Amino acid sequence: MMLNVFDDHTDLSFQAARIICDQIKAKPDSVICFASGETPLSAYSLFTTLMMAEQIDYEHFTLIGLDEWVGVPPENHGSCAWFLRTNVINPLNLLPGQYRLFDGMTSDLPGECVAMDEFISERGGLDLIVVGIGMNGHIGFNEPGVSPDLYSHVIELDEITSTVGQKYFKEETRLTKGITLGISHLREAKTAMLLASGERKAPIMKATLEGEISMEVPATIMREHPNGLVLIDQKAASLLTARE
Ligand code: PGA
Repeated sequence: MMLNVFDDHTDLSFQAARIICDQIKAKPDSVICFASGETPLSAYSLFTTLMMAEQIDYEHFTLIGLDEWVGVPPENHGSCAWFLRTNVINPLNLLPGQYRLFDGMTSDLPGECVAMDEFISERGGLDLIVVGIGMNGHIGFNEPGVSPDLYSHVIELDEITSTVGQKYFKEETRLTKGITLGISHLREAKTAMLLASGERKAPIMKATLEGEISMEVPATIMREHPNGLVLIDQKAASLLTARE
């Protein structure tokens, strides 16, 4: 795993955008998983701008949505689907066959998990997975205590996730379950990139990078990834021992 500490969120976002662009440049049919959230927002905007400015061929790449709130429709602005459509899919005009997002409204959630896993494996697996980190160390909705052996699954949300998740919604929304790619997807992705920014992420980044590797902090799995990239800013790095 490689740790890169940037001066601020802008520098971090430029580097993350560059890495995603270079992945598609090097392998136009890349399969890339995109997280939702505040942290990658600027990186995605820079990514779509760079792709067009540099005229990189993106007709053959496939986008995978990392997760979704169960029971939240895609037209809700707090949904992960809405986030990815607004910030990546629509700006790049991706074709319907070029992306796969979880349907959090389906009556067949187990079937949805199987369909997602098949979609990814039929395309040769993930080349790159871009993830954020929750205040409790979750990746996607892989909450503390999750099995590291899972692929797509439905999970009860941690109280921290349900509470912090309200920030994405205009109105208070009942968030109880999530549907998410699993830790096995992250482990098997050729490259895994975790982004974290700001002081509020400093304690969990310390636990992630300096604590015991354990599913009590799912993000610690990044340390075992042979091609793991952790991009954080100075504020998120402020509690790391090596930087004191
Ligand atoms: P954030 O979310 O980027 O909005 O902080 C991260 C996460 O919960 O994975």
